Amino acid sequence: MPLAVNLARHPEGAITPDDFEIVEVPRPEVPEGWFLIRNRVFSLDAGFRQWMSAGAGDNYLTGMALNEPVQSIVLGEVVESRHPDYPVGTLVNARTAWEEMSLLDGSDLCAPLQCADDIPLQDYMSTLGPTGMTAWLGLFRIGQPKAGDVLVVSAAGGAVGTIVGQLAKAAGCKTIGLVSSAAKAQWLTDEVGYDVAISRESQPDLASALAEVAPAGVDLFFDNVGGGVLNTVMQQLAEGARLVLCGAISQYESDVEPISHTWELVTKRARMEGFMFSDYVDEFPKVMATLESALRDGSLTTFDQQYRGIEQTPQAFCDMMHGASRGKCLVVLE
Ligand SMILES: NC(=O)c1ccc[n+]([C@@H]2O[C@H](COP(=O)([O-])OP(=O)(O)OC[C@H]3O[C@@H](n4cnc5c(N)ncnc54)[C@H](OP(=O)(O)O)[C@@H]3O)[C@@H](O)[C@H]2O)c1
Repeated sequence: MPLAVNLARHPEGAITPDDFEIVEVPRPEVPEGWFLIRNRVFSLDAGFRQWMSAGAGDNYLTGMALNEPVQSIVLGEVVESRHPDYPVGTLVNARTAWEEMSLLDGSDLCAPLQCADDIPLQDYMSTLGPTGMTAWLGLFRIGQPKAGDVLVVSAAGGAVGTIVGQLAKAAGCKTIGLVSSAAKAQWLTDEVGYDVAISRESQPDLASALAEVAPAGVDLFFDNVGGGVLNTVMQQLAEGARLVLCGAISQYESDVEPISHTWELVTKRARMEGFMFSDYVDEFPKVMATLESALRDGSLTTFDQQYRGIEQTPQAFCDMMHGASRGKCLVVLE
C-alpha cells in the first residue's frame, strides 16, 4: 500500500519528527473527472509550519487536521486518469500532501508541467517552482530593485534566500545575507555569491554588523524572518527604502514579537508590503521562462538539499525549519 506522512499531533514550539507518523493508506479509486498521481518530489516549505499548529487557519489556508497527510506542494506524474486535461504520463505541480499517491481534480494550484530534458526534474520544485516564483515576484514586483541598492535578505541561505540573492546581484544590488552559522555565512559568499554574509553565530549584534557594511542604510530588505530581525533592520533604512514581507519564520514556533519603530517608515518615506506568490499565477509562465533561461545560461544556480524516500520527510522538514539544510529542501521519492 502507498505511504503517507500524517500530522500525529499539533507541534508546540520547535517541531520534531515525533509530530508526524508514517502510515499506509489504500490506493484511491479514481472517480470520473479525477486523476491519480504518483508523487516524485515534495517541496518542503517553511510557511506550512504555520498551518500545523493547533487552532491554525486563516484567510489563506485551513489549519491542518490531525491524522491526515500533511499539506505540501508536490511534483507528481499521472498514473491513472478520468480527466481529459490530465492524461497518464502528464507531470503535475499541485498543492496536495506528503503522500506517495494523490487523488486530484485539477483544482488548488494544480497545473500540468512541461519539464525540459536538460533541467533536473527537482528544479521544478525549487527554482522553477513556487520557491522561484516567490523569490522573483517578491523581489521584482514588490521590492523593485535598482542598480546600486543595498539589499538585505534574512534567512538568506534557505530556498527563497539563495535565489533572491543571486537575482538581486544580477540586478546590480549590493547583497547582504543574514544566516545562523559562520559556516553557512562562508558558503553564502563563496558559493551562492552574496557580497557579504552576517551570521548570528559570529556577529550576534546585528545592528552594529549592519551599520558596518551598510553605513548609508538599507534600500531594500527582503524579509523571511520577521520579529527582532525586522525591528533591527527597520532602524537602519535609507530614504525611500522598500521592505518586502515574504515570511516571518522567527514567529512560527514562538510567540509573536510586536513590530516597533514604525516611525522610521515615516521619516524614511519607506514602503513595507507583504505578498503571497499565489496571487500572481498569471505571471508564472513568464517568470518561469525567465528563470529557466537564467539557469541555462549559468547566471542562476539552484542550491538544494535532497532527502531520499518518504520516510525522510519528517526529519527533512525539521532540518529545514532549524537551519540544518542549505538552499531548497526537497524529498525525492524515486
Ligand atoms: N509569501 C510567500 O508567498 C512565500 C512563499 C514561500 C515562502 N515564504 C516564506 O519565505 C521564508 C523562507 O521559506 P523557505 O521555504 O524558503 O525556507 P528556508 O529559507 O529554506 O528555510 C528556513 C530557514 O529560516 C532560517 N530560520 C529558522 N528559524 C529562524 C529564526 N528564528 N530566525 C532567523 N532565521 C531562522 C533557517 O536558516 P538559518 O540557518 O539561517 O537560521 C532555516 O533554514 C519563510 O518565512 C516562508 O514562510 C513566503
